[in-house]
Amino acid sequence: MSIHPDQQPIQSSPTGNKSGRSGDGSVDRRPVTITQLFEKKALGEPLVMVTAYDYPSATVVDEAGVDLVLVGDSAAMVVLGYPSTTPVSMDEMVMLSGAVRRGLKTPLLVGDMPFGSYEASNEQAINNAQRFIKEAGCDAVKLERGGASAERAKAIVDAGIPVMGHVGLTPQSAVQLGGFRAQGRTAARGKEVIEEALELQQAGCFAIVLEAVPSELTEALVPHLSIPSIGIGAGPAADGQVLVYHDLLGIWQGRPAKFVRQYEQIREAMVRGVGAYAEEVRTREYPSSEHEYQMAPDEAHELQAWAAGIHNIGFSKNLG
Ligand code: KIV
Repeated sequence: MSIHPDQQPIQSSPTGNKSGRSGDGSVDRRPVTITQLFEKKALGEPLVMVTAYDYPSATVVDEAGVDLVLVGDSAAMVVLGYPSTTPVSMDEMVMLSGAVRRGLKTPLLVGDMPFGSYEASNEQAINNAQRFIKEAGCDAVKLERGGASAERAKAIVDAGIPVMGHVGLTPQSAVQLGGFRAQGRTAARGKEVIEEALELQQAGCFAIVLEAVPSELTEALVPHLSIPSIGIGAGPAADGQVLVYHDLLGIWQGRPAKFVRQYEQIREAMVRGVGAYAEEVRTREYPSSEHEYQMAPDEAHELQAWAAGIHNIGFSKNLG
């Protein structure tokens, strides 16, 4: 890989103050804080969250000016090729989150606690949440469901780490929920989802993701939340929206969920680009003269004369 001098990785100052003037002379925005998220909610300004999983996607979402970035355990499927979110490990999530951290200047960074990293005990939950903060540089963590997860959320918050909750369709328990399908479509199940959200708020979560729930449920819940709600397939009443990077850009080749709007078709462009490269290599159109390095003619003559004198026997002597 080649990095041009004008493409150096982003560096934060050791003090953590990332505002100031960047290389191109523009003024950087200051890092988003949880206080700002509450201010935006109070002003009715929609919050924008998106997932990212590596350095280049982090630089894209940073430049696009989103408020929050989630290193979702959806990474399991969209970047690691697992069939569901459950196999992804803490080590994999920490590695991906660290790469995203290095590409972000402004948005609040949330690391998604993978299946099996917080359920067993409060101690396990705190230890793994700390890994996201200490090893990957995340600002906060996210976990799924209420009930026992609300107790874990409280333990992590009490340990000084901000926590985002997640209710409705919680992919880590998709099998229990009857598959990847909308949740809370009956009044009885809707009440359970609302109760889980309120438990997570009570536990001290600073925000909550509502995934694949009817708009009526979101409308009934939001007036009871003092914390920002971030919807994904939860209708327009949530305080913000989140989408998976690979879904909104059309990079993921699977059938998108009902709630996804694809803003670009990047995968098609990627396949076209790699296909055009393959074709030009095969037809010898690439590389052409503008891609070649040249020697001065006298250097070239000397080298060619020397190379012509190389014989298999004594090759290493000639090199000396
Ligand atoms: O893992 C993920 O990407 C998520 C979002 C869909 C909220 O949890």
